Amino acid sequence: MNGNRKRVAILISGRGSNMMALVEAARAADYPAEIAAIVSNRADAPGVAWAEGQRLPVAVVDHKAYPSREAFDEAVDALLAKAGVDLVALAGFMRIQSASFVRKWLGRQLNIHPSLLPAFKGLHPQKQALDAGVKISGCTVHFVTEELDGGPIVAQSAVPVAEGDSPESLAERILAAEHRLYPLALALVA
Ligand code: GAR
Repeated sequence: MNGNRKRVAILISGRGSNMMALVEAARAADYPAEIAAIVSNRADAPGVAWAEGQRLPVAVVDHKAYPSREAFDEAVDALLAKAGVDLVALAGFMRIQSASFVRKWLGRQLNIHPSLLPAFKGLHPQKQALDAGVKISGCTVHFVTEELDGGPIVAQSAVPVAEGDSPESLAERILAAEHRLYPLALALVA
């Protein structure tokens, strides 16, 4: 592939393992997207150190340095504009976004969530799944809308719940599925 590759920004807040999966996928010459920017709202996110080590274009926009959610989102948006971004991929980005940012990127912003949506939205979805006693959980890539974890679904992957699973052991198995699913879903959208 070539100049038709969509320019993607990945937004992170922490470990960044989904970011790594997307970066690895985009290294293939025939992948339809390239990583144009990585943005973290936390300077100490392990994903930032990894991205710097890979010499990727990574920026920290510290939400605590802005007076409001809107001001923070505007700073992120300015950075995306500067990088000529076409698509945004949230990857463990733990900030609620302002309505104006969500509307601006509507249809061009994806998120990954570790449950089979619409089940178990919000925080601790793996624990929610165990508490509900489901036998199959998984992960979902969806478009971001103003409804938290509620946008149109792009792709899902099912992960069986094992006897004796803890939230951590289930999360680990779902995470492995996320790393396969997100690159596929991003390619579909790109
Ligand atoms: C992933 O499991 C992701 O699905 C989840 O946070 C983890 C981030 O891991 N996201 C959410 O729960 C969003 N609601 P990572 O930083 O290693 O990609």
